[in-house]
Amino acid sequence: MFLIPFSQEEKKKLGTMKLFFFLFVGAVHLLSLGSGKATNKNGTSQRTFQEIKEEIASYEEVAKAIINLAVYGKYQNRSYERLGLLVDTVGPRLSGSKNLEKAIQIMYQNLQQDGLEDVHLEPVRIPHWERGEESAVMLQPRIHKMAILGLGTSIGTPPGGITAEVLVVTSFDELQRRASEARGKIVVYNQPYTGYKTTVQYRMQGAVEAAKVGAVASLIRSVASFSIYSPHTGFQEYQDDVPKIPTACITVEDAEMISRMASRGDTVIIHLEMGAKTYPDTDSFNTVAEITGSKYPDQVVLVSGHLDSWDVGQGAMDDGVGAFISWEALSLVKDLGLRPKRTLRLVLWAAEEQGGIGASQYYELHKANASRYSLVMESDSGTFLPSGIQFTGSDKARAIMKEIMSLLQPLNVTKVFSGGEGTDINFWIQAGVPGASLCDDDLYRYFFFHHSYGDTMTAIDPKQMNVAAAVWAVVSYVVADIEEMLPRSEGE
Ligand SMILES: *[C@@H]1O[C@H](CO)[C@@H](O)[C@H](O)[C@H]1NC(C)=O
Ligand SMILES: *[C@@H]1O[C@H](CO)[C@@H](O)[C@H](O)[C@H]1NC(C)=O
Ligand SMILES: *[C@@H]1O[C@H](CO)[C@@H](O)[C@H](O)[C@H]1NC(C)=O
Ligand SMILES: [Zn+2]
Repeated sequence: MFLIPFSQEEKKKLGTMKLFFFLFVGAVHLLSLGSGKATNKNGTSQRTFQEIKEEIASYEEVAKAIINLAVYGKYQNRSYERLGLLVDTVGPRLSGSKNLEKAIQIMYQNLQQDGLEDVHLEPVRIPHWERGEESAVMLQPRIHKMAILGLGTSIGTPPGGITAEVLVVTSFDELQRRASEARGKIVVYNQPYTGYKTTVQYRMQGAVEAAKVGAVASLIRSVASFSIYSPHTGFQEYQDDVPKIPTACITVEDAEMISRMASRGDTVIIHLEMGAKTYPDTDSFNTVAEITGSKYPDQVVLVSGHLDSWDVGQGAMDDGVGAFISWEALSLVKDLGLRPKRTLRLVLWAAEEQGGIGASQYYELHKANASRYSLVMESDSGTFLPSGIQFTGSDKARAIMKEIMSLLQPLNVTKVFSGGEGTDINFWIQAGVPGASLCDDDLYRYFFFHHSYGDTMTAIDPKQMNVAAAVWAVVSYVVADIEEMLPRSEGE
C-alpha cells in the first residue's frame, strides 16, 4: 500500500546502479579479504584492531550509497510519508485499543508489500486501560475549566466525581513536611522541570505518595520542558498496600496558577471527574520482519521502535518516527540490493508505554538465543537532527562503533555517547548484549510534544527524519555485515 511502484525507466536505472555498485564494493571487499586473517571457529577475533578498522573503512562507498538514497536521492522523505499515511489513517494507538490492532495489521501488510522476509506477528498479552470522559473545574477562588489528562492505569472517580480543597506542594519532601494537611484533599504537585528522568517520578509515584498521607486524588504538573497550556499524559504506578486514588496531569500554567493562589492564602477547591477504567489484558502482537543473513543467518542485529502510543495526538513522534526509521533501515538496505552476513531484524513493539510489555515478552521468548544477538537498537526519543548514537557495551565494541560512526562523516553524525538503555532493549543489555539508541541533541524540544495532543506529524521534520533513517541503516547494516559479532566482555 505504501510502495510507490517503480516506472520501467527507474527500474533500469536502479539495476545499472546496483551492478556498478556491486562491482565496486565487491572489489574493495575482495582486497580486504586478502589482507585479513581468518576468524577461528567460535567466532573469536584473531584480527588486530587495525584490521577491523580497515574492514569498516571498506564500507565507505556503501555508507555513501545509503546516505544518497535516503537523504538526497529518490527515497528522501519516504519514511516521513509512510508514517504520515499510517498516523493520519489510524490516529493514536493506545495499548489494548482497536487502533493499535489496526496499525499492526496495516504494518504487517506494509512489510510484506515492501518485500521484507519472514514477516510475522508474535503474540503478546498487553494492558487495556481507557481514560473515558474526564474533566476538572476549579470552583474556588474562581470558576476555571482546567485541561487535564488522566494518567495511564489511574482509576476513575466515584459517580458524581470528587470535590475537594487543594494542597499544593513542589516536592515529595514538602508533602512529607505537610503530611498532616493532606487528609481529604486533592494534592497538586507543582514540581519544577529539571529534566525528564528526574521529574517523571512525580508522574509515576505522585498518586501513591499522596494516598499515603490520606489525599483523595492527585493532580500532577505535566512533565514537559515547555507548555502552551498542554497536559501531558503517561504511565503511573499504584502500590499494592496503598489505596488507589484517581490521578491526572494538569498544565504547567494551571499548576503555577494554583500555586500562586495558595501562596496568597486563597482556598482552592477543584471538582474532578474521571471515567478511567482498566479492562482485562488483551491479545496483541510484536510485528517482526527481516532480511535474512547470507552467511550467519542465526546471528541477529535487531532494530526497533514501538508501534503503540498514548491515546492523544497521533503518536507520530513517540514513537512513530522510531518505528518508521527502523523499517526504513531495512527498506534502504533491500533497495540497494544488499544482504548482510547476519540477519537484520525489525521489531515494532507493542505496549512500550506501559513499561516495555511487548518487548519483555519478546525477550522471554528469544533470550535463549541472546548469545547470537550482535547488537540491539532502539529509537524512542524522537528523530530531530541526530548527533550520534548512545551505546552500551564493552570498550572493544565501543571502539568498533566509533569506527562505524565515522562512516557517517558526510552527515556530521559521528558521535558515540554512553547510555542508550531504552525501555524496549534494556532486557538484552542487562543480559550483556551491546545496545544502541539514536541520540538527538534536542530532547528539550522532544518534551514539548511528548505524550500530548501536540504529538502529530507537524512536530516531525522530514529532512531530519531522512538523516536519522540513514544513520540507522548504516549502523545496523555494517554491524550485521562485518565479519565478527561485536565483542561482549573485555576478555573476548
Ligand atoms: C522532502 O521534504 C522537504 C521538506 O518538506 C521538501 O523541501 C522536499 O521537496 C521533499 N522532497 C521530496 C522529494 O518530496
Ligand atoms: C534460536 O535460534 C535458532 C537458530 O537460528 C532458531 O532455530 C530458533 O528458532 C531460535 N529460537 C527462538 C526462540 O527464537
Ligand atoms: C557537526 O555537529 C556538531 C554537533 O554534533 C555541531 O556542533 C557542528 O556545528 C556540526 N558541524 C557542521 C559542519 O554542521
Ligand atoms: Zn516512546
